[in-house]
Amino acid sequence: MVKKYLNLFNFTSLFIIANIQILSSCTNNDTTVKKDNVPNKIVQKIEENPGNDIIAKTAKVNSKAIHKPEQLQLNENIQKENNLKKLIVSDLKVVSKRSCSLKIYDEDGNKAIFKPYLKVNTTAKHEVAYYKIAHILDVKRVPVSVIGLLPLSKIKGFLSKKYPEFIDEFLKRVEFDSDNLIKGAFIEWIDNIEPLSKEKNDYISTIEILKSNDTQLQQSAYRMIVLDYILGNWDRFSGGNLFKIKDTNTLALIDQNNAFSSLSEGQEEKLNRYINLVKTVPPDLLSKIKLLNKSKIKDAVMIEENNTPLLSDAEIAQIMSRIELLQNR
Ligand SMILES: Nc1ncnc2c1ncn2[C@@H]1O[C@H](COP(=O)(O)OP(=O)(O)O)[C@@H](O)[C@H]1O
Ligand SMILES: [Mg+2]
Repeated sequence: MVKKYLNLFNFTSLFIIANIQILSSCTNNDTTVKKDNVPNKIVQKIEENPGNDIIAKTAKVNSKAIHKPEQLQLNENIQKENNLKKLIVSDLKVVSKRSCSLKIYDEDGNKAIFKPYLKVNTTAKHEVAYYKIAHILDVKRVPVSVIGLLPLSKIKGFLSKKYPEFIDEFLKRVEFDSDNLIKGAFIEWIDNIEPLSKEKNDYISTIEILKSNDTQLQQSAYRMIVLDYILGNWDRFSGGNLFKIKDTNTLALIDQNNAFSSLSEGQEEKLNRYINLVKTVPPDLLSKIKLLNKSKIKDAVMIEENNTPLLSDAEIAQIMSRIELLQNR
């Protein structure tokens, strides 16, 4: 019995590590599928490449993509990225029916969010792009995120009984490939967060932060507003989307899949309203923003495995024009 259990674990472990390995080959036409839908090719690749080698290679490329890193933060992020890539799923829970997002519990007690690419949009990738750009601007408390693949069999296995209706909806809305692998963002879970406001309108709570004597919270609010402004993230400030880490004076910046949008008039107006609360952009942040250019952004949002940027040239051009707006306001 124990042996059977261990074998299952090994199998699961292979599967998740496979997720990293196959990123570059997820568009190939390998249709040979083994038990539990694991393609032969993937199993072979893992046998040829022990997991640690794959992980080290990915981290090395990552460190090239980040400019002027503060070494400690960089190391911590690389470690967290690697942990996300090594997840061994031990349970799943639904956290958002709207975006089909799942909470992953892993065997080692780590937790993460999985936000899948949907048939109608692949904005889940913006979670990772936002994190990468936040990192080069040294804006903290944006959860570390990576792009990866989760097998549909895992989702069915853990959720079919608990959430039968959700599974039907999930299958209709989520993009999965011929190997039944679902691409999406794996996002670090931040413990102990609470919404700053239970109200629909978080503008009030943002004003309250900025008026308060809590300089640390103010600083993190300024940074959040500036980052959301240049990255076109209009969705932060409503419906309890503004979070604080409990018992601290620290904001946690979660949920960035609506960043990099083409903004409607109302969304633009909303971002302007918030940026107007920032009289002076924190000088260290401004000097980092001034160093950005199209190629640095493109570099930062490059997926290591297949050299594809997470943002289009148009989306990158939009960031640059919002930076110009910020400087000329
Ligand atoms: N990284 C995270 N750490 C902790 N909780 C999270 C994290 N991401 C999401 N959540 C929780 O899950 C909820 C839904 O996630 P969210 O990213 O807002 O999904 P959606 O894009 O559907 O709005 C959030 O309101 C929050 O309570
Ligand atoms: Mg949300």
